[in-house]
Amino acid sequence: MQWRVPLFEPDFGPIEMEAVMQPLRDQWITMGETTARLEAKFAERCGVKHAIAINNCTAALHLAMIGAGVGPGDEVIVPTLTFVATANAVRYVGAEPVFCDSAGPHNLNIDVEQITERITPRTKAVIVVHYAGFPVNMPRVLEIARTHGLVVVEDCAHALFSTLQGRACGSWGVLGCFSFFGNKNITCGEGGMLTTNDDDLAARMKNMRSHGMTTVTLDRFKGRAFSYDVIAHGYNYRMEDLRSAVALAQLGRLDGFLAERQRVRDRYQELLAGSPVTVPDFDWERIRAPQDRMGHHIMPVLLPSGVDRAKITDRLKEAGVQSSFHYPPVHRFTAFAGCSLGRGSLARTEALAARELTLPMFPTLTNEQVGLVCGALLEAVERATA
Ligand SMILES: Cc1ncc(COP(=O)(O)O)c(C=O)c1O
Repeated sequence: MQWRVPLFEPDFGPIEMEAVMQPLRDQWITMGETTARLEAKFAERCGVKHAIAINNCTAALHLAMIGAGVGPGDEVIVPTLTFVATANAVRYVGAEPVFCDSAGPHNLNIDVEQITERITPRTKAVIVVHYAGFPVNMPRVLEIARTHGLVVVEDCAHALFSTLQGRACGSWGVLGCFSFFGNKNITCGEGGMLTTNDDDLAARMKNMRSHGMTTVTLDRFKGRAFSYDVIAHGYNYRMEDLRSAVALAQLGRLDGFLAERQRVRDRYQELLAGSPVTVPDFDWERIRAPQDRMGHHIMPVLLPSGVDRAKITDRLKEAGVQSSFHYPPVHRFTAFAGCSLGRGSLARTEALAARELTLPMFPTLTNEQVGLVCGALLEAVERATA
């Protein structure tokens, strides 16, 4: 299938191509100095003390659960409208995800007020997801967490680097988890980052990223260490320099990418204004400070209630437009059957997830292409509602 407008498209150019050659020229491709440079630059951009490169966001979430002290028998509150990785990470440590509803059709993020209702004596932590890059109301989440003694983890897979009240996503919680998967705002194929301001936690996460070993291969190569001890039950969640080089090059271009994503978002809003298709605003204007900036990731819209979404996606496909939906609610998956039963309603998410449609968004998407997408979409909706 040759799409006229794909859903996402990475933007690699001479900068990434030159960057990826450097570790090869240096003859050092495992986790080394390039990864350390990526971590330093990422920490600076995010406004945190520590950024720890991890081989993907799912692994970062797993480590974050360990860092948060979550274990068997514990409960962790998560939104049901997220990628399954958020909930899987809770299960990796033997705990149970407890699902929360979305705020509503205007805001697909977790309903922050519902977090309190889901708390039991077993609740250890909450993972918030900044859906599409729109920050969750973090001051309120931190207030609830303080009152009830919960650890806050941010799933920032979509949120590179939106700020709220001057603070970047990933700098509010005890730990933040980022993704560099192929469709993300910066990418190196697979990759991720863990952020924290806690020195001890950072040291522990770094250690667990590499089998719980007290030194890494580069330390021994540089003569800084000869041997190692293993002080924890760790993993191989290392990021290697080839991918770090690409991520570092992409990070250097992030501001340009975000400006283009904002242009695309503005164009969609302009063309869909006053139409039967709703563009959720995530309460952004209400909770943001004037200096805040959005790092848009995906372009979610809501179809009118009752419209058969499959008919719309088929029509878009005929027009050469790729679309998707984010997400099937996690509590609906077979593997999560029974989870959160009797814990309150998830009806809002069920209703809006059936209406959600994700339109193409990437920095090189032209205004003409946005016009083509909106034209095909509005025509399909008109036919479906006629
Ligand atoms: C909200 C969310 N969380 C976690 C992940 C997992 O990221 P990764 O593929 O880097 O493991 C994704 C990836 O799409 C995501 O969208």
